[in-house]
Amino acid sequence: MTQALKGKLALVTGASRGIGAAIAARLARDGASVIVHYASSPERATNVVQAIRDAGGEAEAVGANLSNPEGVAALIGSLNGVFGGKFEGRLDILVNNAGTVEYGLFIESSDTSYDTHFNLNVRAPIELAKDAAKRMIKTGWGRIINVGSAFGEAAPLPGVTLYIASKFALRGFTRGLSRELGKHGVTVNAVQPGPIDTELAPQPGTEAHATMTKLASVGRFGKTEEIAAAVAYLASPEAGYTTGESLTVDGGWIA
Ligand SMILES: NC(=O)c1ccc[n+]([C@@H]2O[C@H](COP(=O)([O-])OP(=O)(O)OC[C@H]3O[C@@H](n4cnc5c(N)ncnc54)[C@H](OP(=O)(O)O)[C@@H]3O)[C@@H](O)[C@H]2O)c1
Repeated sequence: MTQALKGKLALVTGASRGIGAAIAARLARDGASVIVHYASSPERATNVVQAIRDAGGEAEAVGANLSNPEGVAALIGSLNGVFGGKFEGRLDILVNNAGTVEYGLFIESSDTSYDTHFNLNVRAPIELAKDAAKRMIKTGWGRIINVGSAFGEAAPLPGVTLYIASKFALRGFTRGLSRELGKHGVTVNAVQPGPIDTELAPQPGTEAHATMTKLASVGRFGKTEEIAAAVAYLASPEAGYTTGESLTVDGGWIA
């Protein structure tokens, strides 16, 4: 285990499975104490926490539905008490990872689709970043990392229009906020995955999976650990001169 993040407190949203679980494990391996956030999967979050502890790391699970302001407020409200209160209200690393997508043509989308995408993919990260930034400014060090998408850079396929709109918004927020926090020692970046094998993405064996695989220069979907590695770099003390950046990790998908 490296110790580059020893003594740092990290919050990873949507860490009960998929990319978030890999990010939580990686930041813990790098020495951070990690809050494993979940929404509907407490058992899975417990498993992620246990795996981190078994590997010698420190983790704690916290649940909240981030699709509504009350859930976001509840998560923020729990921060001061994590790990027995030893971080005294600090938060050093925020990884806004929780996200969702609804597949289908825009003109056929439901009336709730805008809210589904924007409440979780945009509003929750913005509200969490507002609270985190205030905590980070106090200590003069912080890392805010937004998990966007290669769909926040380009639109190579139809059927995900509102998802694309939400990830472009998140990318814009990343750049704007970086301008305000740089002088406080706080960096703000995005990691933009291409297709990664998780429950969110088209499943192996489907036509959509085959189509998306063909678009990748490396000829395969990515692994969650490959996204976690990019997040770990941006979270590290070495990355202090990188801010306002959107690092696309997509196997050349939109090259
Ligand atoms: N997989 C890909 O191909 C891909 C590509 C580009 C970008 N991304 C982005 O990467 C991020 C993670 O994606 P993933 O593929 O790992 O997704 P995933 O496997 O579907 O996991 C989603 C995570 O978000 C949490 N979540 C879902 N609804 C929530 C809500 N209302 N409130 C709070 N948390 C909620 C889930 O928690 P529970 O399990 O507890 O409900 C889970 O931990 C997302 O932002 C996604 O847009 C993914």
